[in-house]
Amino acid sequence: MADEAPIVHKGLDSVYVTESSICKVDGTEGKLYYRGYPIEEIAENSSYEEVAYLLIYGKLPKRNELDSFIAQLKAERDLPQGIIEMIASNAAKADPMDVLRTAVSSLSLYDNEAADSSKEANIRKTIRLISKMSSIVATIGRYRNGGGYVSPDAKLSHSENFLYMLNGAKPAPEQHKPVEMMFILQAEHSSNASTFSTLVTGSTLSDLYSAVTSGIGTLKGPLHGGADEEALRMMYTIGDPSNTENYINEALAGKKRIMGFGHRVYKTYDPRARVIKGYLLSLQSNSSEEVRRLTEIALRGEKLMIEKLGQSHGIWPNVDFFAGPVYVSAGIKVELFTPLFAASRISGWCAHMLEYWSDNKLIRPLEQYTGQIGLKYVPIDKR
Ligand code: SDX
Repeated sequence: MADEAPIVHKGLDSVYVTESSICKVDGTEGKLYYRGYPIEEIAENSSYEEVAYLLIYGKLPKRNELDSFIAQLKAERDLPQGIIEMIASNAAKADPMDVLRTAVSSLSLYDNEAADSSKEANIRKTIRLISKMSSIVATIGRYRNGGGYVSPDAKLSHSENFLYMLNGAKPAPEQHKPVEMMFILQAEHSSNASTFSTLVTGSTLSDLYSAVTSGIGTLKGPLHGGADEEALRMMYTIGDPSNTENYINEALAGKKRIMGFGHRVYKTYDPRARVIKGYLLSLQSNSSEEVRRLTEIALRGEKLMIEKLGQSHGIWPNVDFFAGPVYVSAGIKVELFTPLFAASRISGWCAHMLEYWSDNKLIRPLEQYTGQIGLKYVPIDKR
């Protein structure tokens, strides 16, 4: 019997590639759990440091465990001089995601444990990466704003220190709260494209820096982490809330995708988008005219997209849609949105890589060959 044509799952849609106990994404009910805890409770009660510990170690830390973990993170915030110089000479002109990817890849040159594949060394490298990626993103933003390197402040929390290194001043609560919330909400999301590409690289037993560099390159794409920047740029292009409906109707008629909507897994409202929207609405009374205008555009866009594509096509707001106005309220410039996403998601990437390495298997899928076979080679002067 001729070989039956295999079923090709383009984009690995609906394919399970491994087992994991880190994160449950329920796309039907619109629920998300970090190590079993609902994202709403985590966002309400936790801190990014505690979330990173939970994702990596699989349990909420006791007070002494968290204090020790925070101390280790703080000890790793500073950047090698060579990395600072690389950022200083590239930040103003290059895409911040390219500078971040290059800086993280270069970090391995300063880490004498880079090639040590023991679990203990990989946890130490995870802590280095969590701290240093936040410092790198802040330093990129700092140099793009014409400032110089700001040494980290060990008295500040992770996200407060990020804002301090970015702006050269200690953040006010209204600046720090939205950034902390986004760090928490973007930390982990099961086998999304960037986590998967991290695993593909690590599954060959390459090193953690190489695996994370793959993840950063993957997250950059506008179909993935880059959507948060594109969604805000769309809102600025719309300009006035009264233009929202026309803009979206024309875009959809031209078969364009509206960034910040749709998801491979969520076929209902992304629970993270609900939390971010709720926070944005809580800001309205004392936010700038710009944030209020962006919020009105976002709300009108949300209403129209749900009417047109929600129930009928399963296309709903995702984590990226309301993120832009929230970041604007905290004074974060649009080109830092996706680098910040990466500085948050590093915890998820490393948690998955540590878990996968505990029962490693090379990731090597098949493809259905559709070309010819058995052709006879023809010398070049006879072609
Ligand atoms: C993230 O996976 C994760 O967990 C990712 C993430 C995480 O935390 O790691 O949640 C973060 O990446 C969120 C998603 C951010 N991306 C965007 O907002 C970009 C816009 N969204 C899409 O491009 C799309 O929804 C994807 C890529 C996110 C998912 O698309 P799929 O599952 O591959 O489905 P598809 O691209 O094949 O779309 C199916 C149909 C198509 O129409 P047809 O060609 O069949 O006619 O739905 C349409 C698409 O055109 N469609 C959209 C749309 N998203 C899908 N149409 C208009 N606007 C959109 N946003």
